[in-house]
Amino acid sequence: MVRSMFDAIAPRYDLVNRIMTFRLDTRWRRRAVRDLKLAPGSRVLDLASGTGDLCIDLQRAELIPISMDLSFGMLANGRSTAPRAQADILRLPIPDQSVDGVICGFALRNLVDLNTFFVECARVLKPGGRVALLDVGVPHNPLLRFGNNIYFGKIVPKIGALISDGAAYRYLPRSVAYLPERHTLVQMLRDAGFSDATHSQLSGGLTQLMVGTRD
Ligand SMILES: C[S@@+](CC[C@H](N)C(=O)[O-])C[C@H]1O[C@@H](n2cnc3c(N)ncnc32)[C@H](O)[C@@H]1O
Repeated sequence: MVRSMFDAIAPRYDLVNRIMTFRLDTRWRRRAVRDLKLAPGSRVLDLASGTGDLCIDLQRAELIPISMDLSFGMLANGRSTAPRAQADILRLPIPDQSVDGVICGFALRNLVDLNTFFVECARVLKPGGRVALLDVGVPHNPLLRFGNNIYFGKIVPKIGALISDGAAYRYLPRSVAYLPERHTLVQMLRDAGFSDATHSQLSGGLTQLMVGTRD
């Protein structure tokens, strides 16, 4: 279901993202890349890369990305020059301890098993390697949360229907509910092998970012 949904929205995915976030998404991705704190030349997996926006930011930061996604449509609409592979990120076709960084943008809430994903991230990272995970969040401030709910619940699906696919953009805001709350997410990451894992809210909590170092 997830794969065919993203295949369907791939051609207009970047455009809808820019419109519905007022381009804030570009700022969030740059922050995630910065927080990897990796030296130039480091090899980084961009998991659930979609059309590869994070790969472009990784390349700008002189890092070496490899893009992986389940949806061939998303990969085919990619604009980065990073090598790309169609793969399920819950079963990475990558040897143990082979990369310096793992980054993942706005995909956690699509995964059927987050624990398996975190353990896979830990498996492929070298000791000392870094992980940065970005996803939509739920603002703590009640007013912002109320506005966010109206915007993502009522307005974004209309924008999506107009430019892309209404059903997909009704699912995407609802899928936030699949994510555990932040303390649970951080604990899961720590248990997977990132004992210094931390959580930050970006833009008042519209988005959340977790980073950690492989033990
Ligand atoms: C909302 S898009 C995010 C794309 C990109 N990371 C970004 O920042 O714009 C979510 C992506 O996750 C991918 N995805 C979902 N489940 C996946 C899985 N199990 N393995 C690989 N990719 C997956 C989808 O195909 C889709 O491209």
